[in-house]
Amino acid sequence: MNASFIKSVNGLTSLQSDPRTIGKEIIFYEETVSTNDDVLRLSKEYGEGLVIVADSQKGGRGRHGRRWFSPPGINLYFSILLKPSSSLEKVTILPLMASAAVVKGIEEHAGIHTSIKWPNDIMRGGKKVGGILMEMKTAKGKICAIALGIGLNVNMTSDMFPEEIKNIATSLRIESRMDIDRFKLLKKILREIDCWYTEFLKGNSRDIVNEWLKLNSTTGHEVIVQEIGGREIRGTAEGIDEMGYLLIRLSSGIVERVSAGDVTILA
Ligand code: BTN
Repeated sequence: MNASFIKSVNGLTSLQSDPRTIGKEIIFYEETVSTNDDVLRLSKEYGEGLVIVADSQKGGRGRHGRRWFSPPGINLYFSILLKPSSSLEKVTILPLMASAAVVKGIEEHAGIHTSIKWPNDIMRGGKKVGGILMEMKTAKGKICAIALGIGLNVNMTSDMFPEEIKNIATSLRIESRMDIDRFKLLKKILREIDCWYTEFLKGNSRDIVNEWLKLNSTTGHEVIVQEIGGREIRGTAEGIDEMGYLLIRLSSGIVERVSAGDVTILA
């Protein structure tokens, strides 16, 4: 399986030869530290749409400085280089956009229904299947390059998860009892991201928000949001705005906008 994945990614001619932006160029590494680092390092030499795929990462990172477990041969770890001429406030929607694209890609390829926990965790039955980490290089307040990094637990079995995540994480294989073709799944996800990124460039953030709202499992629920290094906010998740911030109605009736944090769904 590993060999065929490597061969398939290396031979991604169908994506490379079509006119789309995302996946115009694809670089594959058997092992790297983090595909996000690679994308940012190569951002001057390559144009928007470059995808770096790795079979394993030695220093895979998650949100809020956490580790992203990245063993070889079974999962998907990839990052996309983006260079929008948008403002810093506009691009905060991009990881949420990617989460919607991933949910759609999984549904199309494997027929597995997943959902999004704010802001961009890919969930199934209360457990995490995948996540997105956006990092960027800026100069004088302007965006030079964005790395949109995606990690998905694809063919891991329960015994492969490290102790600290085994009760909170799952994989597509565990959920579907099927071996998933990583290469075909990657292609579907890249197509979806390409479509939604085109909408983003046209300024259609509202459509992205609406798509995210359709696919998420946070809004409408009573939640606690743990802000990083900060407050704990409890209330009803009512929606998100065009920056992807979560709107929480407190018991006082006031609506708080939250930019980052960990959500626990209470009811
Ligand atoms: C999260 O914490 O939910 C985000 C996880 C993002 C992991 C991906 S794997 C590819 C890319 N490279 C990294 O080091 N992180 C992202």
